[in-house]
Amino acid sequence: MLPQEIIRKKRDGGKLSKDEISFFVNGYLDGRIPDYQMSAFLMAVYFRGMDFEETTYLTEVMLNSGHIVDLSDVPGIKVDKHSTGGVGDKVSIILAPIVASAGVPVPMISGRGLGHTGGTLDKLESIPGFKTNLSIEEYKRVISEIGLVMIGQTQEIAPADKKIYALRDVTATVESIPLISASIMSKKLAEGIDALVLDVKTGRGAFMKEYEKSLELAQTLFTIGKNFGKKVIAFITDMNQPLGYAVGNWLEVVESVQCLRGLDVPDLMYVTYVLAGAMIMLGGKANSIEEGIKIAQKVVLSGEAYEKFLQLVERQGGDVSYIENLEKYPMSKHSIEVKSMFDGYVYEIDALEVGIVSLILGAGRTKVDDVIDPKAGIVLRKKVGDKVEVGEQLAVFYTDKDDVIKEAKERLSKAFKISSEKPQIPKLVKTIIDSEGVREWK
Ligand code: URA
Repeated sequence: MLPQEIIRKKRDGGKLSKDEISFFVNGYLDGRIPDYQMSAFLMAVYFRGMDFEETTYLTEVMLNSGHIVDLSDVPGIKVDKHSTGGVGDKVSIILAPIVASAGVPVPMISGRGLGHTGGTLDKLESIPGFKTNLSIEEYKRVISEIGLVMIGQTQEIAPADKKIYALRDVTATVESIPLISASIMSKKLAEGIDALVLDVKTGRGAFMKEYEKSLELAQTLFTIGKNFGKKVIAFITDMNQPLGYAVGNWLEVVESVQCLRGLDVPDLMYVTYVLAGAMIMLGGKANSIEEGIKIAQKVVLSGEAYEKFLQLVERQGGDVSYIENLEKYPMSKHSIEVKSMFDGYVYEIDALEVGIVSLILGAGRTKVDDVIDPKAGIVLRKKVGDKVEVGEQLAVFYTDKDDVIKEAKERLSKAFKISSEKPQIPKLVKTIIDSEGVREWK
């Protein structure tokens, strides 16, 4: 087989066999196929798509590029959650300790920032000393000891996804249902879980902007998970405005810690509790999602979830003093206010623009080997529906870069639409997909 034959076949809309997909993915992983051919292949898949069978093959090949962890000696039903990516989506950092405190083991393998969205790994690594590159042995030890572990793909876990993910990030080939599905499910199926909750984002700041596409993605992910023998629940949630107030790695850790200490950031905590409730139910500790939500709220109020997070940080080498004393963290060189030029209501906050501005500020990558500035990012002061007056702060942004301030200020200011009319607040959790089918979430 020749790589260019496979690229051409996909470019022309052909269906690839398992052998062809395996040849291409494994060839890329062992260096026989260079970045430029993989980039062309990814772009062909982006435009031509893959059917469900090809997507399943791609998932399988990526899954089998590394180890499949066996966690059968860890007692309990192991449950993870994965989001398809959003702006300000720090749910994993809050939810994982909540669910683990409820007695459900959470082995979590996350990704880095992708496109305009942040990644849980980059956020966790903003905590000084926090290690996300544990060996499989260490991964198993941590989950056995504290019921929770949060790492990234190593060379051992879905290494094909690790390498392809980094390339997709910088070749505008992220927004593809087969590529996203295989990426997410290869990691999730490798980590040793029994059940999975999926948060499929929809809207401006999501990879799938239209609801119909998000539904297709959710159904693809759900079906792959089920076919591989896992219990799965998928939700479709709104990503038109950023989730919560903070966007940027350390800034999101700060907001997460505040929520774990009991701060109610309504949109962020609503999504967190629904997903946590579903995980607690799948983990066998509640009879319904509603009961799971109550348990989740209880472990936040009691402080158990915060304690569990401290345990996680400590166990994975992080310096807990930065969590206990959030002000200890270094400050960015610049902190710039964006103020409203109008009176009225915040009608819209364009999550995609906010995500792109956070990249410009240094919070994400524009090239594979870019180094992230963990301090950089944005804190919104207003959310959709809030009243605002001329001169009031809409957001504050943080950066060490001198040459991005003008552009960031202009773009962030334009990301806010102010109107004299009070807008309808979008429904946050729209749809649930489980073994009973697709339904509106009430
Ligand atoms: N999350 C992933 O792990 N992979 C994607 O492709 C998108 C979101």
